[in-house]
Amino acid sequence: MWGINFSLVSLLLLLAVQQTSALNAVNCASTKGFSVVSSGKAAPIWVGSDDWPGVQRAASDFQSDIQQVTGTKPSLTNFTTTSKVSGTPIIVGTLGKSSLISQVVKNAKINVSAINGTWEAFWAGEVSNPLPGVSQAYVIIGADKRGSIFGLYTHSESFGVSPWWWWADVPIKTSKSLFASGCQHGTPSVKYRGFFLNDEQPALQNWAQEKFNNNFTSTPFNHLFYTKIFELLLRMKGNYLWPAQWSSSFAVDDPQNQFLADYYGVVMGTSHEEPMARSTPNEWNEFGSGPWDFTTNAANITAFWKEGVERAQPYETLYTVGMRGLGDLPLTNGENINLLENIISIQRGLLTDANPGVNITKIPQMWCLYQEVQGFYQDGMTVPDDITLLWTDDTWGNIRRYPLANETSRSGGAGVYYHVDLVGPPRDYKWIQSSQIPKIFEQLNLAIVRNATNIWILNVGDLKPYERDTEFFITYGYNHTIYNTTNLDASFVIPWAQREFGLSASKSATVAEIVTNFTRINAARKPELWNSTTWSLTNYREAEWMLNQYNAIAAVSTTIYNSLDKNTQPAFFQLIHHPVQASANLAAIYIQAGYNNLRASQARLSTNNLADEVQTLFEHDFDFETEYHTMLDGKWDHMMDQTHVGYFYWQQPMTNSMPLISRVQTKKQALPGPMRIAVEGSQGAWPGDNQNDCSQGYNCPNPTIVLDNFTPAGSRFVEIGAGGPNTFSWTAGSNVTWLKLNATKGTITSSNPETRLLLTVDWSKVTGAQYANLQINATAKGQAPMNQPITFIANNTVVPSSFKGFVEGDGGISIEAAHASRNTAANGVQWTNIPGYGRTLSALTPLPADGNGNTGFAAGSGPVLEYDFFNFNTLANGTLNVTTYVSPSFNAYGDDRRLAFAISIDSGSPQVQEFMPLTPPASSPAGWSGNDGFVANSIVSVNTQHTNISPGSHTLKVYAMEPAVVIQKLVINTGNVRYAYLGPPESIQV
Ligand SMILES: *[C@@H]1O[C@H](CO)[C@@H](O)[C@H](O)[C@H]1NC(C)=O
Ligand SMILES: *[C@@H]1O[C@H](CO)[C@@H](O)[C@H](O)[C@H]1NC(C)=O
Repeated sequence: MWGINFSLVSLLLLLAVQQTSALNAVNCASTKGFSVVSSGKAAPIWVGSDDWPGVQRAASDFQSDIQQVTGTKPSLTNFTTTSKVSGTPIIVGTLGKSSLISQVVKNAKINVSAINGTWEAFWAGEVSNPLPGVSQAYVIIGADKRGSIFGLYTHSESFGVSPWWWWADVPIKTSKSLFASGCQHGTPSVKYRGFFLNDEQPALQNWAQEKFNNNFTSTPFNHLFYTKIFELLLRMKGNYLWPAQWSSSFAVDDPQNQFLADYYGVVMGTSHEEPMARSTPNEWNEFGSGPWDFTTNAANITAFWKEGVERAQPYETLYTVGMRGLGDLPLTNGENINLLENIISIQRGLLTDANPGVNITKIPQMWCLYQEVQGFYQDGMTVPDDITLLWTDDTWGNIRRYPLANETSRSGGAGVYYHVDLVGPPRDYKWIQSSQIPKIFEQLNLAIVRNATNIWILNVGDLKPYERDTEFFITYGYNHTIYNTTNLDASFVIPWAQREFGLSASKSATVAEIVTNFTRINAARKPELWNSTTWSLTNYREAEWMLNQYNAIAAVSTTIYNSLDKNTQPAFFQLIHHPVQASANLAAIYIQAGYNNLRASQARLSTNNLADEVQTLFEHDFDFETEYHTMLDGKWDHMMDQTHVGYFYWQQPMTNSMPLISRVQTKKQALPGPMRIAVEGSQGAWPGDNQNDCSQGYNCPNPTIVLDNFTPAGSRFVEIGAGGPNTFSWTAGSNVTWLKLNATKGTITSSNPETRLLLTVDWSKVTGAQYANLQINATAKGQAPMNQPITFIANNTVVPSSFKGFVEGDGGISIEAAHASRNTAANGVQWTNIPGYGRTLSALTPLPADGNGNTGFAAGSGPVLEYDFFNFNTLANGTLNVTTYVSPSFNAYGDDRRLAFAISIDSGSPQVQEFMPLTPPASSPAGWSGNDGFVANSIVSVNTQHTNISPGSHTLKVYAMEPAVVIQKLVINTGNVRYAYLGPPESIQV
């Protein structure tokens, strides 16, 4: 089965745990070294009076961080030549800006060549004789403004202050003394790293309206709100922000917003559809005149942009250039390449005019190649080399295009716009955590390989509850070298859990498993797309397994939550426990509604119990929301306002609505009598008529149950249920000794309306296929006795003892891609496992992505995965149908390097699978959209046929041809593979 084994995984993860205080793997704290605070005395903090105000401001955060950790408040001084010298100070400053730091570097002969002139690097350490009269000091030197700020915040994080101390109520770790050990960080991997507050209704905006609304601005997104965002971003070592957009205008709503962003040290941008640092559509609607159409209204639009540029000029700004239709719609027909080239040229003219003497190539500009614009670009539109091309994902976490080999050296470089939250088709996802860190890692790793590292911007919707995804995205961009396919838990999630919840390494490893397990379920299909038949109610016990799995995850989360002190519970609740519980509850609502509907059609009284349960769970859903809103005296009121139950189309419902449920009359007995029999694997019920009992739907034969010895579940079941209010007693038995029943008699009443009879086989007594006649009898007071015969077929299949591999069971062979018999590299490239990736276990992709001289492999010559299997059956002509479950991805290396792999059985010639159709840039590939499309399903099913395969031992081979192909699972149909959302559970391996 798809088991989860918490303790085993914990143990494995523990071995790999490394202790780091800051998530970027830099630790500035130690148990000895420079005394920041000891014996109740704090080292004074000195900053240069001519340093950046943003550095001085961050130094005051640093001051209060130390106070919060130790209870001792250090002094903070703007140091000048006339300042009094006393104590052993911490001296903070920016190279080339702070005259204090110039003096210190010179006097103490600090070698700063490694950071001098670099972007955002810092160095910290203890030095001697930094200033006249000062014999020792600890210095934190930034290469530039943010280098200094990141130096300070990296120390704060090492000392015990999470970037999320305010935004997720992470307790500050207290300690009487603090020592600094020296630390450093180079230039970040990605130049601009940040997030986009988008789709801010209903949660973020309603919350902010309550918390930040005041009489001096018209919207809640004022500087009181934004300074908290700036601080968070900088504490995470991010630097770039796209502000909330839909009902606000950053620069207009509060005139302090733009100024303070720059003051704090944040580079402001605007979203892909808001050129020239002005909000669109809001500002345009308020201040623009005429239509948002450059062909007819160029003068007004240009004047509008000119104001935007002039307004932003004093501040560090990364300008979005280009143009989209109003409200993020495509440009209208007839607007074309020449027009866009002209627009860009006019925009660059405005930038030049506003920055006299500055070379246009030194003004950061970004052009987002969103949808139709990507098409224009690919059709040859000229884009000045210094403009960063921002490539996008498909809004579902699949990057549409990476820079092609000949585009990787543009001076403006490239970047990536990525989503963990969406308003859009095929369905909004903006309620709860539903992205997987391993998938984000895999996609961004390709961006790194292809040099798309100038900008990474993440659409985080309402920001909460995507705290962990946001930090992973930014931290990975800060230093990509610290993460690889195998250490995402050990180097990110576990240290994250230790930092946020103060948990031991082993409990943090359990938290990492919770994260893996529940984001796997939520990413396999976004909760907004769930319904009562998402998981099969009858095949492979899938829905039941899902219910149990989610309950198990929620139970582990509850245990940890209960073990935490009162100060830590709110953080754990926000970051783990609420999303886990609320998601588990939602899954239960749908699954129980599915069982309710099924039981109604089976004329079972338990229909009503399930109806009641769905109703209770549905009300419970709101209780979770209320708990979130009322904790901490309502600090996060409205933050979980997002509706999420009962979607009718892609857009959010206006309220939550319970899935349809049914009821049966409590006093009426089913026509065939008091007893109802349902057998595993069938939607039918006996006795009496049911459309699922046989194709005719009436006069159907008695049920048949088949079990073979390689069926993963190892058993079958029969449900005995009440067909109405009347109590009956039942007995069960068969004519063979090899069929084992877990019970042979019982009583069914209206208050105990069903029971499950588990059937197993003593295989030592069965040779080949043998039949049993199972009888279930019922007697009810005043009614004729009832009897329901069931044919049970046990099939004992035999594999030669020499065979090792997967064995056919229950009509098919299902294999996790990670469980290859052999995995052979070619030219240094190998199918590499990414634990935790995908819908069931993990996924394999050929790495390194730029291996084999950055070219693909011919079919059959590349790295190969081999899976040994043994089949007893085939379809006609010795045909085996194989389904390869592949992660959705685009032909992002260009149309001449389509995603491809090749597949064969034994010595059959490898069949090339270019499974993703070529797609015009403004559209989605065939199969992408819809509630059953591959982004909704989070999988692409690639079907191949292999003929003339006889029963016996064989090898399935999967050859890598191109990078970015990610394989999760393989299913070989030997005649009876049935529907399950995740496919059949993995087969038995011998
Ligand atoms: C240092 O100087 C700046 C700018 O003059 C000022 O804003 C800040 O409050 C001063 N800090 C301290 C600690 O005096
Ligand atoms: C840093 O580099 C600049 C430019 O090369 C140089 O002028 C300056 O002296 C250097 N600063 C230090 C402290 O080495």
